[in-house]
Amino acid sequence: MNSRFVALLVLVALSACSRDSWQRSPGPDEIVGAVPWFSTMRKGIAIQPYQMPLPPPEGTVPVTGTEPPMPISRENLRQIDAMVNPMPRTSESLDRGRDRYNIYCALCHGQSGAGDGPINAAMFNLIPSIVTDGATRFSDGYLYTIVRHGRGNMPAYGDKIRGDDRWHVVTYVRMLQGAAGAAGAAQQ
Ligand code: HEC
Repeated sequence: MNSRFVALLVLVALSACSRDSWQRSPGPDEIVGAVPWFSTMRKGIAIQPYQMPLPPPEGTVPVTGTEPPMPISRENLRQIDAMVNPMPRTSESLDRGRDRYNIYCALCHGQSGAGDGPINAAMFNLIPSIVTDGATRFSDGYLYTIVRHGRGNMPAYGDKIRGDDRWHVVTYVRMLQGAAGAAGAAQQ
């Protein structure tokens, strides 16, 4: 018998002694793997996770579907403004929009949209309010596109807020704008 194999049997026997020693000794997988004859599976050809980047095959479409890029520009504006929010304003839509908004937008624009998010000062107070009359006049498609592609100093969130979620955020921003408008009217 191979001396390594004998050593292995001893190891197995010893490792079975107590619960403590079991935790310190090599796991069964390591022990079996030490026997060359048993280690074939370990040397098999397999893709190791994180070993190399695995880009999706060409033509792969995300489950949320795909759409051509359409950043805010003078040429795209007509198409952008023609987009219609397909999501009805239900409490589910508002809940989802609020959830996404509070995760991705509130740090800059603030919970109420007034532009007073916690990092505004660090951004040299450059964050605008999104509940102004001007922003309220933006079309739904314009808000959708700002979320998707960003604009100027605002980063794009299209890679994080996907599919219908962008429309839910638009619906929620509309709700914030309505609330701000009502508060403004009440003050006058
Ligand atoms: C990192 C900070 C930051 C985050 C996060 C952010 N924005 Fe902005 N946003 C800005 C800045 C800066 C501008 C001004 C952009 C410019 O100068 O063109 C802006 C502009 C806007 C405007 C246009 C306001 C106007 O009156 O022109 C809207 C609407 C808007 N953001 C919505 C959102 C929404 C919705 C989210 C969440 C998906 C979001 N933003 C996340 C920084 C941010």
